[in-house]
Amino acid sequence: MWVQLLPRPGLGRARAQWAMAAAGAVLIVGSGLIGRSWAMLFASGGFQVKLYDVEPQQIANALESIRKELKLLEQAGSLKGSLGAQEQLALIRGCTDIREAVEGAMHIQECVPENLELKQKLFAQLDGLVDDSVVLSSSSSCLLPSKLFTGLAHVQQCLVAHPVNPPYYVPLVELVPHPETAPATVDRTHALMRQIGQSPVRMLREVDGFALNRLQYAVIAEAWRLVQEGVVSPEDLDLVMSDGLGMRYAFIGPLETMHLNAEESPHRDWDAAFPSTRSLSWLFADHRPTGDGRCRLSSAWFKGLCIVVGGTGG
Ligand code: NAI
Repeated sequence: MWVQLLPRPGLGRARAQWAMAAAGAVLIVGSGLIGRSWAMLFASGGFQVKLYDVEPQQIANALESIRKELKLLEQAGSLKGSLGAQEQLALIRGCTDIREAVEGAMHIQECVPENLELKQKLFAQLDGLVDDSVVLSSSSSCLLPSKLFTGLAHVQQCLVAHPVNPPYYVPLVELVPHPETAPATVDRTHALMRQIGQSPVRMLREVDGFALNRLQYAVIAEAWRLVQEGVVSPEDLDLVMSDGLGMRYAFIGPLETMHLNAEESPHRDWDAAFPSTRSLSWLFADHRPTGDGRCRLSSAWFKGLCIVVGGTGG
């Protein structure tokens, strides 16, 4: 059953024609914080969005909050996409029947709470409803695809597409495949994310924490250590990030930063590139290029980095 909760003034033939010409249909399962943001992103890209939830009131709340937020964004000149707020709203509909919701969807983005059993149950249900043309994507922050999708008939069409809160404003999406995910599923989702203005990154295999949380946890671990050992106050530690390192990393990543600092050498032999930091080598354990080939980064990788930063490659 469709839930028509939005006031849709002036929804005439032009709007109906527009909806028919939309880029495709996407289903969002779970209309909480993350589901709402995904709905806005897909609508900004011209996709018809169905918002499904087991709690009808959640859908009503989601549609109302999306309406308000799109209006505010439009007033502030910060609305994404080329459509107006009303046109984007017209693309989003609530739905309380999962079978009806799945119909016509080419991409399903799951956004239910981070509970393995709940998600497994949901994906098993979706697995029985979809055909071979749909991508089944989970927003999970940390559940591995091998836990979520193993045994599903459509496992080749499954992956995790992990957004960063709030997804409407933070573009990164980590794409994490199950060992059996078809490369075409990742390619298609990558293209879809680009289409809605996100910055997808491909995890080449699943690992705990994906990439973002691996980096984040390393930073948090060192922050705790410095504060716990009485080296710096909590307030000053946070300033180190907000007024220092964080400003740099908002623009370029750590590998590009190292390359710009000392060109090729840090990727070949860290200690030779930065002799004054030798006393910190223990922080890296075995994970620093040592020049003896034990942790040397591949030349293909290095050439790729040189292209990124406009160098010549070595
Ligand atoms: P939330 O609690 O705000 O929303 C979850 C929604 O799912 C609720 O509306 C609930 O009624 C609905 N729901 C529960 N069971 C359902 C079912 N069987 N079928 C359909 N809908 C159902 O959760 P939130 O924060 O939006 O998180 C969703 C997912 O996104 C989680 O996996 C989370 O780890 C992930 N995520 C969350 C981030 C965050 O900062 N909140 C950031 C990135 C990912």
